[in-house]
Amino acid sequence: MSLDPVASLMLDEAGALDGRVLVVDDAGGALTRAAVAAGADVRTWCDDLREWQAVPETHRIEVLPPDWSPDLVLWRLPRAVAAVEDYAEHLATLLGPNARVVAGGRVKHMTPTQNAALARQFGQVSASLGRQKSRVLHAGDPRPRPRRWPQRRYVPEAGLTVIAHGAVFATNRLDAGTHLLLRTVARTTGGPGPGTASRGLAIDLGSGSGILATWLAQRGWTTRAIDVSASAVSSTLLTARANGVEVDARRGDGLHAVAPASVDLIVSNPPFHTGGAKDSTPALRMIEQAGRALRPGGELWLVFNAHLPYLPHLRRRVGVTTVEAQDRHYLVTRSVTEPA
Ligand SMILES: C[S@@+](CC[C@H](N)C(=O)[O-])C[C@H]1O[C@@H](n2cnc3c(N)ncnc32)[C@H](O)[C@@H]1O
Repeated sequence: MSLDPVASLMLDEAGALDGRVLVVDDAGGALTRAAVAAGADVRTWCDDLREWQAVPETHRIEVLPPDWSPDLVLWRLPRAVAAVEDYAEHLATLLGPNARVVAGGRVKHMTPTQNAALARQFGQVSASLGRQKSRVLHAGDPRPRPRRWPQRRYVPEAGLTVIAHGAVFATNRLDAGTHLLLRTVARTTGGPGPGTASRGLAIDLGSGSGILATWLAQRGWTTRAIDVSASAVSSTLLTARANGVEVDARRGDGLHAVAPASVDLIVSNPPFHTGGAKDSTPALRMIEQAGRALRPGGELWLVFNAHLPYLPHLRRRVGVTTVEAQDRHYLVTRSVTEPA
């Protein structure tokens, strides 16, 4: 079994893998496989649907079974300190007094603030020696303190209360690209507010905290939000609820589950990373999928970094594409599919 350096160090640092093992965010499934091979009773939870689906069905969970408390948690650390805080708060409440956490990451993505985030929830926190540019944090003696996540913020530029978990893109803040997209869509498709008849089906693709979805729902769109992250879906639902609108938020990988020619409007600030690495592939796939999911005359609105080469793809895969706004960093495009 081939193990990446982080997984290999985590397993060496974890010691005997017996009893109940909870694996968290097991990119590639190596930790799950190793713990199963060692005879442990293994449950795996992943925030990202694609990682979760790569785990054997018999081991993956969406929520912990009520009568199942882990002895050991193997956790691939997220990079964002906010995400570490949020996960640590959650783990501290569900672990028994003797449970151990072994959390691993690449040294270049780790900071002492992650140790501090763990120390807020655990009485014992220590770091391993580094090996192959990887390091492990050990945490034990859970002492849950009041939860700080998800966090709420009023975002005046959007006129919305935004609630987000720590693992969500930009958490509860308004990203500059999203702000430009929102202002530009408002200029052209602002329109009526709550209580009016539906203007059609809109999708916020990669909804994060749900700012765009909630804004659309407030303006009379029947709104669906799709995100590959469980934290994002939960945050989108919290944000919609806090603003008194209904959004159908689902965990999904792009527009796979959306019927062809069924959607009137798609808005997105698409991902530009996969894991830690810059990657345009997911956004290009989303554009292709949007071309199929939109009805004739439907519109795709995107915001992206101005240097990214999406325009030819938008024209080929969706339809006539215009640049509706541009600043020093971002382009906002509107692509319209061929009318019937
Ligand atoms: C740049 S963030 C934008 C978030 C939010 N719309 C905003 O504007 O603040 C991109 C979002 O896309 C989600 N995402 C990444 N890959 C995805 C995929 N294949 N399908 C659905 N969502 C995806 C990420 O989890 C993230 O929440």
